Amino acid sequence: MQTGVATETASGSTPVALPPTTPVTAQRIGVPREIFPGEKRVATVPEVVEKLVKLGFKVVVESGAGDLANFADDTYRAAGAEVVDGAAALWSASDIVFKVREPSADEVALMHEGQTLISFIWPAQNPELMQQLAARKVTVLAIDALPRMLSRAQKMDALTSQAGVSGYRAVIEAANAFGRFFNGQITAAGKVPPAKVFIAGAGVAGLAAIGTAAGLGAIVRANDTRAEVADQVTSLGGEFVKVDFEEEGGGGGGYAKVMSEGFQKAQREMYAKQAREVDIIITTALIPGKPAPKLITAEMVMSMKPGSVIVDMAAERGGNCELTEPGQAVVKHGVTIVGYTDLNSRLAKQSSTLYGTNLFRLTEELCKTKDGIIDVNMEDDAIRGLTVIKEGSITWPPPALKQPAAPAAAAKPAAAAAPAAKKGHGHGGGGEPMAGSKMAILFGVAAALFWLIGAYAPREFLSHFTVFVLACFVGYMVVWNVKPALHTPLMSVTNAISSIIAIGALVQISPIAGAAGRPNEWIQWVAAAGIVLTAINMFGGFAVTQRMLAMFRK
Ligand code: NAI
Repeated sequence: MQTGVATETASGSTPVALPPTTPVTAQRIGVPREIFPGEKRVATVPEVVEKLVKLGFKVVVESGAGDLANFADDTYRAAGAEVVDGAAALWSASDIVFKVREPSADEVALMHEGQTLISFIWPAQNPELMQQLAARKVTVLAIDALPRMLSRAQKMDALTSQAGVSGYRAVIEAANAFGRFFNGQITAAGKVPPAKVFIAGAGVAGLAAIGTAAGLGAIVRANDTRAEVADQVTSLGGEFVKVDFEEEGGGGGGYAKVMSEGFQKAQREMYAKQAREVDIIITTALIPGKPAPKLITAEMVMSMKPGSVIVDMAAERGGNCELTEPGQAVVKHGVTIVGYTDLNSRLAKQSSTLYGTNLFRLTEELCKTKDGIIDVNMEDDAIRGLTVIKEGSITWPPPALKQPAAPAAAAKPAAAAAPAAKKGHGHGGGGEPMAGSKMAILFGVAAALFWLIGAYAPREFLSHFTVFVLACFVGYMVVWNVKPALHTPLMSVTNAISSIIAIGALVQISPIAGAAGRPNEWIQWVAAAGIVLTAINMFGGFAVTQRMLAMFRK
């Protein structure tokens, strides 16, 4: 179906019904100029164009699309793209369109049947747009609907890449509006205390802000309703400030939920105290599908020191501060409140490069054959998740993922399964009934096999075989009980341990090895080489393990 459309749109405007056997030509990826006011990003950049061409695609860019992100038309041409004038020419020439912002009604009107659009869409917030797109019989992949918890999806996660940039920029905006250094200094002219920064919401953007502010030398504190982020805050150089109220803040999938009135009251008290103490507040708190929680009240703003700064990253969704004016930087009660909604556009080159790379990674997943033809495979969890319209039919929301949603959630069943397996083995059952019966069958089959081998195999084979089976069992139990995140260091340490084979070489090199008194000189040389190589493996393996574990300890 797509192949037919590809040929049709690439070659002209007259629709031609192609037989299924027609040879396919490479599809054209079109990149229009973003028309949303103030949007400076572009959906692909020259270095990504080169990679798309290598994947077999043709790339068409609207003239001026990259201007505001400092990518001139010529740089796209040099990378292998064709540059066309005007949106109408671009949209009609493209089989696939890469965009940043969701399309306007005018842009939707330029779409043709069989086209594929990859862009931010926000299907929950834009039901009308979804209907308009479906009516054009197009396929739409909403990059914001990507199932982020799939580890395979991380390279395509544009929400994360863009939030990282905006978190960084929020700190730069705060530094710009703040009249002092971030770091403490002792100079001949006097002592300067470090700035105190409080970050409300430690998601991707909040964590980027913590790292940036700490890097500039500020004292950074942060709070989030999800207690599990406390370690991440600390590892980036911040201090996690707890709310004095016990309540689980996770609403599923790593996102937050609306908290109880009791929690909110305790949180307000803590935030009020922070507002009096700190110089800068950066807020990033969001709850999917809900307006941004109001965390900073007008009284809190009034209680801040004159010259303080608030950067409200949630401004576009209503703001976390009562006094925020979306899109503006205003001074109220002596406090500068920055409500910019274009933080990504303020670092357009960086944001576009990361976004372009996310879309390239997605294209790789869509075109595993590397022949310039995409396949929207609805059996693939990641692709299914972000396909919100398939050939005119709305396919959003997607069914719940088969895989466990969060890495933390995935670790729990594994940890819980280990004792269940032990119980089944050592104490005659327990744990889940399924696991117990499965275990019993497994052991029964293994015992029968063992008896068969014992009955017919030679005596020497049996002893080696027993050691082999026990080694497999012990190895399995060791791997099972180690967290998946530590499997790489585990591999390197077992690799180091495998150098125990050095003992074989040592035996060969020793004078007692040869049956006729002296061992063969050639064997001794080979054994010596074996010892050198296994020593490298052994010491190298332990050294690499040590370095990897040090990364986790941080
Ligand atoms: P977000 O932009 O929806 O929310 C930002 C932060 O605000 C969240 O950490 C949330 O807990 C916090 N928040 C909400 N209400 C609050 C309140 N009343 N007070 C204080 N804080 C509040 O979240 P974002 O940044 O898009 O990601 C959320 C989480 O998703 C990440 O922290 C991570 O755990 C998970 N994630 C996982 C990925 C993966 O596994 N590959 C990739 C990206 C995100």
